[in-house]
Amino acid sequence: PTNIAIFASGSGSNFDKIAKKAETGHLTCNVKILICDKEQAMVMEKAQALGIPVFSFRAKDYENKEAFEKEIVDRLQEEGVELVVLAGYMRLIGTTLLEAFPNRIVNIHPSLLPSFPGKDAVQQALDARVKVTGVTVHFVDEGMDTGPIIAQEAVRVTTEDDVTSLQSKIQQVEHRLYPAVIQQLVEGEMYRVTT
Ligand code: GAR
Repeated sequence: PTNIAIFASGSGSNFDKIAKKAETGHLTCNVKILICDKEQAMVMEKAQALGIPVFSFRAKDYENKEAFEKEIVDRLQEEGVELVVLAGYMRLIGTTLLEAFPNRIVNIHPSLLPSFPGKDAVQQALDARVKVTGVTVHFVDEGMDTGPIIAQEAVRVTTEDDVTSLQSKIQQVEHRLYPAVIQQLVEGEMYRVTT
C-alpha cells in the first residue's frame, strides 16, 4: 500500500470516505496522518474515531508559512508519506511542501476549474447562474486551484438548487471520484498529466 497523508480543515467527509476505503482495502493506501489547521474542525473527531494520528497546528503560532510547513514535512517524512491528499484544506501550499513532494500533492475542488477557484465555489456557481458545475481533482502548484487537471465530473444545476442542495450533489460526486482517482494514481506511475 501507498502511504498517504490527508490535509483537511473542515467537516472531513472526504477524509472519512478515503480513510474508510483504505481501512477496508478498497483503496490500496495507508492513511498515515491527518494534517489539520483548524482547532475545532470536525475532521479531527473522525480521525480519532478511526485511530489515525493527527498533526494539528495554528498558523499564527509560527513566524511564517515556511516554519510550519517545515514541521509538517518532518512529520510526513517520519511517517513515510508518498502522496499528499488535500481535502478541504483551505490554505495555499508553499514552496517548502511543494519541493518536498514534487508532483505528489493532489487537491479536490467543488467546481469545474478553471471556473470558480478559491472559496465558496458552490455559491460562485449559483451566482453565475451556470447550468452545469462539478468537481475537479488536480495536481497542486503554487497557485490557487491552478495545477494540472487529473479528472473532472459535471453536476447539473437546476432552478430549484440552493447552496445546500448543490453542495450535497457535488459532495456525492466527490466521495466517489476522489478515492477512484487516488487509486489510479497509486496503481500507476504518479506523474504530472501536463506540464
Ligand atoms: C470539499 O467540498 C472540497 O471540494 C472543498 O472543501 C470541501 C471539504 O468538505 N475544497 C475547496 O473548496 C478547496 N478550494 P469535507 O470537509 O466534507 O471533505
